[in-house]
Parts: sequence; structure tokens; C-alpha cells
Amino acid sequence: MRVRKKTWTPTVIQEAKEQNLLIEHPSQFKGKWKKILQTDTLHVEIGAGKGDYFVEMSSLYPTIGWVAIEKDMHVAAYALRKSFGVVLNNGKFIIDDANLIDEWFEENEIDTLHLNFSDPWPKKAHHKRRLTTPDFAVKYQKLLKNQGQIILKTDNAAFFEDSLVVLTKTFQMEDVWVNYRQQAHPEDAITEYEQRFIELNQPIYRVIWRNNK
Ligand SMILES: C[S@@+](CC[C@H](N)C(=O)[O-])C[C@H]1O[C@@H](n2cnc3c(N)ncnc32)[C@H](O)[C@@H]1O
Repeated sequence: MRVRKKTWTPTVIQEAKEQNLLIEHPSQFKGKWKKILQTDTLHVEIGAGKGDYFVEMSSLYPTIGWVAIEKDMHVAAYALRKSFGVVLNNGKFIIDDANLIDEWFEENEIDTLHLNFSDPWPKKAHHKRRLTTPDFAVKYQKLLKNQGQIILKTDNAAFFEDSLVVLTKTFQMEDVWVNYRQQAHPEDAITEYEQRFIELNQPIYRVIWRNNK
């Protein structure tokens, strides 16, 4: 997701740092996320966009620790602005590229990874930029605990198919939906992108994989 540069981004980022919501040097918490979030369950969302999922899920599940990762600071600024006063001590935010994820989290530290409407990068030459490449699969397997999960939602059939092929080589596919929002799922927050596709009556694909180490 790209948004125009916002003049208010630096102010929001500064406030988020002061509130200890935005973690500037995430590697300092490697192996300690559960401790600082006071939880025994850690969920990480990669490509959190404007933060609807992070904000709602961290409120719905206050005993779970939530870490949101978004590489675009102007997009992240929207998420941080929404989080002020709503996301409590069980949520933290990282603004950086998830390619570095294994510098920030320890082996077996993560219980669940969420990939919500990740950029599909339709051109073959750009597939290497996806969050579901074989290289990411290696990192995810290392960071997820045994029996941990990856949960992916997308509107994009081609991206969904390719991700199924790639990640199912490493993880056990446990559940799959080809029209997830046909039923109400109040237990799972709707993201900004998801809301758009629901309004357009487009099916939402969803898959859960399990990490059998
Ligand atoms: C299509 S948007 C979806 C946003 C949100 N998850 C939603 O469902 O509405 C994908 C987001 O992932 C972010 N993103 C893509 N690759 C990333 C990476 N390697 N590290 C961190 N964020 C990434 C983009 O900047 C963008 O904001």
C-alpha cells in the first residue's frame, strides 16, 4: 500500500516512540517479546497497513501479545494514530522491512503469523518480493514454535494458489476457505483491504498452515 507523504507522520512517530508503542530497535527484544508483552502467546502481523486488524485483534484478545510490522512509515502512521489510547500494553509496532524478521525474533518465539492481503506482486519477475517466497518460508519455520500457525487472507486467486504451493512444501495445510466471509466470523477482525473486497462482493481466500517441527 502506498499513500502520499503526510506532514503529520513524524509527529505521530515521535509520540508512538514516547508511548513505547513503536519499537525503534526491535532486535533488543529478540527472545523477550512475551516477557515485555506480559503474555505466553505471541501473534505477529506482517504488512499491517493502516492497522485495523492490529487494533481490533489486540482489543479482542487482550491476553495475547500482538506485534504489527509495516515497512511504509506513512502507512504505519495511520495505524499508530488509530492505536493511541486503544492498543494497550499487549501491542507493539515495528516500522521496517519484514525481510529482517529473523533479527527481531528468536527461534520458536512466535505462536501465530498473520499475512493479511499481502501485496500479490502479479508479475513473475516480482514474485521474489512476496511475503510467501521459499526464503520467507525458511524464516517462518525457524521463528514459529512447534505447532505454531500461519494464517493468510487474500482476495487474489493467483497469489493464493502460488502461496499454497510454496508454503505447503514447508508447512501442513490445516484449513482452507475460498469464500471466508460468506459466513460471519466475528472472532476475526476485518482489515482495510478486506472491507473493500467485501463491499465489492469479492470472495476472500483464507488458509491456515501448521508448523510441524
Ligand atoms: C496490500 S497492503 C494490505 C494492508 C493490510 N494488511 C490490509 O489487509 O488492509 C500490504 C501492506 O504490506 C506492507 N508490506 C509489504 N511488504 C512488506 C515487508 N516486506 N515488510 C513489511 N511490510 C510490508 C505494504 O507496505 C502494505 O502496507
